[in-house]
Amino acid sequence: MKLVRTIEEVRAACRAARSRDRQLGLVPTMGALHDGHLSLVRAARAKSDVVAASIFVNPTQFGPSEDFAKYPRSLEDDCALLEQEGVELVFAPSVEEMYPKGNVTWVLVDGLSDRLCGRSRPGHFRGVTTVVSKLFHIVEPDLAFFGQKDAAQVAIIRRMVRDLNLPVAIEVCPIVRETDGLALSSRNAYLNPEDRKSALVLYRSLARVQKLFDGGEHDSGTLMAAASREFASEARVQLDYFEIVDPDTLEPEPAIPKPALVAVAAFVGKTRLIDNILLGG
Ligand code: PAJ
Repeated sequence: MKLVRTIEEVRAACRAARSRDRQLGLVPTMGALHDGHLSLVRAARAKSDVVAASIFVNPTQFGPSEDFAKYPRSLEDDCALLEQEGVELVFAPSVEEMYPKGNVTWVLVDGLSDRLCGRSRPGHFRGVTTVVSKLFHIVEPDLAFFGQKDAAQVAIIRRMVRDLNLPVAIEVCPIVRETDGLALSSRNAYLNPEDRKSALVLYRSLARVQKLFDGGEHDSGTLMAAASREFASEARVQLDYFEIVDPDTLEPEPAIPKPALVAVAAFVGKTRLIDNILLGG
């Protein structure tokens, strides 16, 4: 496995790989890798001839009071995991390499970027779409792999790829969870044992909605009320949003869309966690 730090090197390596008529799969990450990330790598391994992963804690997708500085960084361990999974190339640039001084150009998916997490994290999705489009231009992958865990990110990246005619196929992989249901996240590392218990309310609220829906309850007001009752019983957790929306537009619909994205974000102490399910998918 090759670890490269510069755009020039990664471009050369990716072009060489693709020129032999092989499909290149890219897995973009911010590192601190867990089984959720590795599930994307395995999907990439299965669907492409050459797999590249990027590890870059992207400053432009963090707000000024968010956790950019303390975001977990573990490049050595990450590389060991990626090597075990058969990744050929890891691109881990510095901030200066990705954002040249005086950089003022952004990629913005209008409207969608202000919904769900975009509402509570202004500028977040602009940072995501800018860095992902830069990665697509640098690596020129045939396929790129993302997790359903970040459902809004998926909708926004799909729209960006469509609107800008980018020649990359977006592949989406299911959410990987702990055995008790908690979705794997690099930010779970911030949780103390008590937080960890409280954090389960996200999954519990989604499971409750799924159960009611499967039992025939299709009124979104009733489903959301049931979810808020779960949160009311967990005083240490502060709900950011709980929404039932169309998975492509991220907009709430008067009638439950099919499929419907049920998305939740909440603060457990200072740690912001997200989760979601698809109803009727
Ligand atoms: P990061 O949070 O590191 O996640 C990288 C990829 O792993 C994303 O596509 C995310 O959805 C996926 N992922 C995370 N947890 C998962 C889980 N439990 N199950 C399945 N997939 C999971 O998302 C980002 O980084 C950044 O925004 C990025 C796209 C790299 C741009 O900076």
